[in-house]
Amino acid sequence: MVGAFAEAIIAWQKQHGRHDLPWQTKLNQAPNPYAIWVSEIMLQQTQVTAVIGYYAKFIQRFPTIAVLANATQEEVLQYWSGLGYYSRARNLHAAAQKIVNDFGGIFPSHFDDILSLPGIGRSTAAAISTFALNAPQPILDGNVKRVFARHFNITGWPSAPKVAQQLWQIAERENPHTNAIAYTQGLMDLGATLCTRIKPKCPVCPVNASCVALENNSTSKLPTPKPRKVLPEKSTTMLVIINNNEVLLEKRPQTGIWGGLWSLPEIEMHEIASEVVQSRLGLEVDAAEPFAIVNHAFTHFKLAITPQPLLLVKQTLQAQAPNMIWLPIDEAIGAAIPTPVRKILTLLTKYQK
Ligand code: ADE
Repeated sequence: MVGAFAEAIIAWQKQHGRHDLPWQTKLNQAPNPYAIWVSEIMLQQTQVTAVIGYYAKFIQRFPTIAVLANATQEEVLQYWSGLGYYSRARNLHAAAQKIVNDFGGIFPSHFDDILSLPGIGRSTAAAISTFALNAPQPILDGNVKRVFARHFNITGWPSAPKVAQQLWQIAERENPHTNAIAYTQGLMDLGATLCTRIKPKCPVCPVNASCVALENNSTSKLPTPKPRKVLPEKSTTMLVIINNNEVLLEKRPQTGIWGGLWSLPEIEMHEIASEVVQSRLGLEVDAAEPFAIVNHAFTHFKLAITPQPLLLVKQTLQAQAPNMIWLPIDEAIGAAIPTPVRKILTLLTKYQK
């Protein structure tokens, strides 16, 4: 059975939805579950426009599960560098290895097996199952939560367990038995292009006649925002240690923010840079004027970074720690580094010119 809601979404998708996204299966071609999986992971928390360039380069470098599984984490992170939420890349890499070890290198075709892979939750598993495996399942990503919350007047923060449960019930109830790909893509397209967070384009929405929020004039109130705590602010000093055109990078631990990425060495705000560098790294340096603070917002806190440039005078210890590397600044900018570090190094190249 196909209800009126799904029918309207399907008809609208066919006429007005997105049909040329690079991960969409072309007419008369078999779906590629691997490529669809990569796209769905990149599209978690990230908009289509930001994903497209990364996706093309990623698939070109890692065209199959086996190639991805055999790559180093370092290189996978390099191709993710700038997209953020790096656990997605670490999980993708680990999942490719799991598929090689546990599923003979073939992307699994059972929903529960897909769901068992690192980094894949219920909605992502459902999207892959629908788009790649001809086994439709209801989805509920951030955009779709917004569409359902407004259309069916579901109040409360959509990720609160009780509210999510109501939304999943709607997702299951409305999911059609035919045209599932057009319906699923249509929900995503509607959420991304018409039922936007601000200034939704209700006059051209295919389901405006039955939208409760539009009827109640409450689209701006739904979905109910997350109860906001003030984000704590942390601060750090990043050392930009320079020797000619090279900069010293330090690999971050696997756990915590930016796990596994290369970054600039950090010190506490109260420490004196040149002393720490001497005692910890065996480097004699001259301090230059700090750059302006670079701010970066994470989901759970804000970070204010003071970049402290230091010019190498002498390397007193010969041996170098394995988690440290000197790289030409241009090369460092292309390495697996976090976005604010790239910003700092880019500023540095401008100062040097
Ligand atoms: N967001 C999540 N998955 C998507 C997809 N397949 N196409 C467009 N936007 C998406």
